[in-house]
Amino acid sequence: MLRSHTCGELNLKYVGQTVTLTGWINSRRDHGNLIFFDLRDRWGKTQLVVNLESDSMLHERAEKLRSEFVVQVSGVVEKRPAGTLNSKLSTGEIEVHVKALEILNTSETPPFELLDDLNVSEELRLKYRYLDLRRPAMMNRLQFRHRIAQTARRFFDQKQFLEVETPILTKSTPEGARDFLVPSRLAKGCFYALPQSPQLFKQILMVSGVDRYFQLARCFRDEDFRADRQFEHTQIDVEMSFVTQEDIMMIIEELLTKIFSEVFNREVKRPLQVMTYDEAMNSYGSDKPDLRYGLQFSDATSLLTQCGLKVFKTVIETGGVVKGFKVSQNEFSRSELDELTKKVQDFGAKGLAWFKVAEQELESPIAKFLSSDEKQRLKNLFHLTTGDTLFLVADRWKTVCAALGELRRHLAQVLHLIPENEMRLLWVVDFPLFEWNEEEKRNQALHHPFTAPRAEDKKLLESEPLRVHAQAYDLVLNGTEIGGGSIRIHDEETQSKVFGVLGIKSEEAKEKFGFLLDALKFGAPPHGGIAVGLDRLCAMLVGVESIRDVIAFPKTQKGTCLMTDAPSKVYPKQLNELSLKVQA
Ligand code: AMO
Ligand code: AMP
Repeated sequence: MLRSHTCGELNLKYVGQTVTLTGWINSRRDHGNLIFFDLRDRWGKTQLVVNLESDSMLHERAEKLRSEFVVQVSGVVEKRPAGTLNSKLSTGEIEVHVKALEILNTSETPPFELLDDLNVSEELRLKYRYLDLRRPAMMNRLQFRHRIAQTARRFFDQKQFLEVETPILTKSTPEGARDFLVPSRLAKGCFYALPQSPQLFKQILMVSGVDRYFQLARCFRDEDFRADRQFEHTQIDVEMSFVTQEDIMMIIEELLTKIFSEVFNREVKRPLQVMTYDEAMNSYGSDKPDLRYGLQFSDATSLLTQCGLKVFKTVIETGGVVKGFKVSQNEFSRSELDELTKKVQDFGAKGLAWFKVAEQELESPIAKFLSSDEKQRLKNLFHLTTGDTLFLVADRWKTVCAALGELRRHLAQVLHLIPENEMRLLWVVDFPLFEWNEEEKRNQALHHPFTAPRAEDKKLLESEPLRVHAQAYDLVLNGTEIGGGSIRIHDEETQSKVFGVLGIKSEEAKEKFGFLLDALKFGAPPHGGIAVGLDRLCAMLVGVESIRDVIAFPKTQKGTCLMTDAPSKVYPKQLNELSLKVQA
């Protein structure tokens, strides 16, 4: 090696030793005859001291050093003089007095200073990602991600899971997003799809008898970007045979406990809380509720059936509901309340009713439409006390839940109700198997079409499909879905009934997933699995907003890579080979 130690390694134990270090010049401070440098590598920073009087060659080379030059230095480890210790650095008690210096490479002036609290645009960071990654904060994130991945691998290996790679050039997998297509050169006019997940292959591996599979799988989905979505993401992907839903949940709880404790020194309280989908929607207006704060909903429908306010009455008469929640704050201005109303309207609600709780009365423009009995019953139901504000929305159940869910999230943020540094893990179970797609007027799978119905609901598959519950489970951390899975259908008969409900014709099913249906005919064992989103888990554990910060080379919101300039045009020859023509 060109070095004897790393830049994060030396401490008082090494005082007096001659060492050789390599790395990047991080900063330079001139003090008369002494120049101080911080030398940086992946492991840390070490202070170097060059005495300009000691050696003219050294002097000349040291004068040339600029930020990000790559050097090799040899020198003696010395205790720093009193008053100059840096308790923030692991090497903060020592410095290296340089005796020899070799410049291994020069560097242009970087377009931004490589500091941890950086104030430059993300575009610039992504264009020069190699420089951005040199920053200790980013290097730390890469290391955390690595350690999560290694912990997962060790864990699954100990539990006798086999790591199996599945194809990247494959056929469409139905996870609900648009496919990325790759044209075939040999089969003209035909396309591979990049996998949205290894879903079908991992099920087929169960038919093969692998029994316990895992993979750190790359998944490709052409869907709209958000802070927690990328075109490519990585799943900790799992499938098991001869198991129940609880077995899979237990394995994942064990894995999370290991990751939380070994990588982040945090405890997971087991067993994790389990909530049904209905309860999550009814009480928090979300299938991935953030339980770090309260603001739980109650249903006021039954108290308001005779209500003098027409909107409430009409909604209730037409099968809708009135639900709401309170916050312990009533200092909302009129314009703030208008803004909150707009928030719920963005989510489909027609309006927002609010009541400020004062000493004697409920204050609201619509209070006059409620009888004093109704007001008292609202006070009791929501445990209202002076200084609270109650919010109510009346509409169809689904709209009310969605709008209140959004309002709850928003108010928790603006009222600073979210405790920092808390991790709330939760299982959401008993999802509906199907949901109604109003736009396309058809049933669609809430998870994917291979999810098994609950045994007791199977009889409803054809008569009342929307009442069938799935053997599906999502893992939620602080209001983000970090994983999801299900017990799968392993018999052809149920599978074709489900396709029937989804309006997938048998020829279409054959063409799309014929290989899976064939496999199910040859002794498929009962099986199920789950996938945990590695990017999301990692981002939440290291405490960053965007998964881009835990991906070495992420894409921008527009799906481009600013460093490589992908996607880019290709040569006509390449298009010809693929028999493709680009329309103007
Ligand atoms: P699902 O589609 O729920 O399930 O995905 C599993 C987990 O992957 C993460 N995830 C994403 N992360 C970043 N960017 C994306 N675009 C993205 N999409 C999903 C989420 C999510 O919870 N085959 C099934 C799993 C199974 O049933 O076993 C699947 O892919 O954290
Ligand atoms: P409107 O009669 O539509 O002007 O509504 C009068 C008030 O009733 C509004 O300011 C809201 O406070 C409330 N309101 C109207 N529609 C709804 C609704 N769907 N849910 C809750 N409150 C509503």
